[in-house]
Amino acid sequence: MQSPHSRNAEATLPGSGTPRYAGDLMKTNTPDTLISPADLLEGLDWRYAVKQFDPSLRIDTPTWNALEESLRLSPSSGGLQPWKFVVVADPAVREKLVPAAFGQTQVRDASHLVVFTAKKDFGAADVDAHIRNVAAVRGVPVESLAGLRGMLLGGIVGAKDSAGREAWAARQTYLALGVLIASAALLGVDAAPMEGFVPDQFDTILGLNELGLTATVVCALGYRSETDPYASAPKVRFGHDQVFLHV
Ligand SMILES: Cc1cc2nc3c(=O)[nH]c(=O)nc-3n(C[C@H](O)[C@H](O)[C@H](O)COP(=O)(O)O)c2cc1C
Repeated sequence: MQSPHSRNAEATLPGSGTPRYAGDLMKTNTPDTLISPADLLEGLDWRYAVKQFDPSLRIDTPTWNALEESLRLSPSSGGLQPWKFVVVADPAVREKLVPAAFGQTQVRDASHLVVFTAKKDFGAADVDAHIRNVAAVRGVPVESLAGLRGMLLGGIVGAKDSAGREAWAARQTYLALGVLIASAALLGVDAAPMEGFVPDQFDTILGLNELGLTATVVCALGYRSETDPYASAPKVRFGHDQVFLHV
């Protein structure tokens, strides 16, 4: 099995037409801690969507900090990050979220709970905040980014109506969810992604309306209960040939 990040991945140099193995490139371009393909697959196979968390097991602070950082480092279209990740720690609030999640106890019992939220009316001011950040981080004048600004305003903000922008923002939060799930698996942390909740009720309980945010998806994180029957259930996936088309 090959992936672009595999040490066995082939690279074709422009103009040469000759594939060569990327191992040497990887040594200079990637962190030393790059895991092996086998370790990656073991981690992804180990993970499953947890139904019962052990409420007595907590994620330690360095691990949690790394998981929060994995969210911050998530890619997004245009780099625009139209989201906030709401980490709900208050046990009373977590308890209130259970009925709003159709009784799913993961929102209460997991060590940590992240509610992914999208900005409801993403607009020019948000693009400008991003542009100012790019200028500050990369040490370039804001004026030099006029082309990028125009592209983002025209391609994303101007090209969609309000509902379209909200749907676009929600899609970005799912990318962050994927990064979080994979990161957690590689750190040996269990996760439960959840769409089974009533967004309006979450928005009200968490006071998201006032912040111009709306809940899109949820992820509970912690450690599986020994009694969770799903932990030992075989993983159900279509075969390789059914989900890949190599052209
Ligand atoms: C976006 C998303 C939402 C999900 N929502 C729920 C949910 O509300 N409740 C639940 O029990 N499982 C939920 N799941 C878990 C899926 O059912 C599960 O990932 C799928 O069956 C594959 O199983 P596995 O993740 O254990 O390999 C969700 C998964 C995803 C990715």
